[in-house]
Amino acid sequence: MLQSKDLAHILDVLLDNNTGGELLSETLDLYRDILLTASGIDLGGELEMGCIHTGAGVAIGTTWAALCIDDVLRTKRFVSGLYHAIKTVADRRAGPVHVLYAGTGPWATLVLPLTSRFSPEELRLTLIEINDGSYDSVQRTINHLGLEDYVEEYIQTDAATHVISGKLPVDVVLSETMQYCLIDEMQVPIVLNLMSQLPPEAIMVPERITLQLGVLNDDKAQHVNRNIGTVFTIDRASLAAYAPKNNNLDFPTFRLAVPLLGDAAEGPLAILTTIDVFGAYGLTHYESGLTNPQIIGEYPTVDNPLSAIDFTYHLEPSPLLGMRFHT
Ligand SMILES: C[S@@+](CC[C@H](N)C(=O)[O-])C[C@H]1O[C@@H](n2cnc3c(N)ncnc32)[C@H](O)[C@@H]1O
Repeated sequence: MLQSKDLAHILDVLLDNNTGGELLSETLDLYRDILLTASGIDLGGELEMGCIHTGAGVAIGTTWAALCIDDVLRTKRFVSGLYHAIKTVADRRAGPVHVLYAGTGPWATLVLPLTSRFSPEELRLTLIEINDGSYDSVQRTINHLGLEDYVEEYIQTDAATHVISGKLPVDVVLSETMQYCLIDEMQVPIVLNLMSQLPPEAIMVPERITLQLGVLNDDKAQHVNRNIGTVFTIDRASLAAYAPKNNNLDFPTFRLAVPLLGDAAEGPLAILTTIDVFGAYGLTHYESGLTNPQIIGEYPTVDNPLSAIDFTYHLEPSPLLGMRFHT
């Protein structure tokens, strides 16, 4: 009972656009303590640290997946975006909203607070996780919190190859299996696989991930000075357009010109990652570990020329934004 009140309080704080940093951190500390107790996982354990290399990318270990909760704005915006995605489906038609959560980690962190606003008749959950420790833990957590009635199915599998076969149609796919620049982890193969099996009205959370070439300020703080252009986008349109040829899984190469400017000192070039979670909710530069700009080189000068960069997003041997520099 206490815990359901706690989850309601946690959700109120996460959904409130006026929540300040201190309250957000305190609230997520409380949420983490509830989840730690419910799951009984040992964050320092050797098994919990182990990552899985699927051959198509990395699935992070239980401890690291659990600690994602501490990326506080990430957790807040994903929970808020997911809440509004579910509301959007619920407002459009009668019946339960079915969320397929691909990569729950040990705690299904992004969805559990929503059980305080939706009943098991309104919200159904299919929970997919590949990692043994996280898969066992998410079941313990849900049982301990008395939330089993929400669960349509637990599935231990690779979400990048999973064939959706449940009786209830999927309305929302939720996956946060990414790092900045969409490197190494399996967000792209997972959503490529799952969204290709669903109708256009199914919602993907996050709705869009965008990689841009940008310029940082030439100072210590290195804030983003400006964008030069978008180099890669993952959304329903780009997933639908993906058509690999001749056994080559690469996305099409995109060439972006880098303008040579005057004599004024320019800051470094960087890849900027931004995330549209759902509706008004998203994450921009430096708001999360997922959106930290990554420096890729110095801004070109007459003595250090660079006319354009070719960007190719590779799925093999593991997810990576490849770059070829042209002088
Ligand atoms: C970044 S963690 C996020 C954990 C939690 N959902 C959160 O947002 O706080 C990603 C989780 O997805 C799981 N995962 C990654 N790739 C996967 C795959 N191909 N199939 C199933 N689970 C995967 C990892 O094992 C990990 O538990």
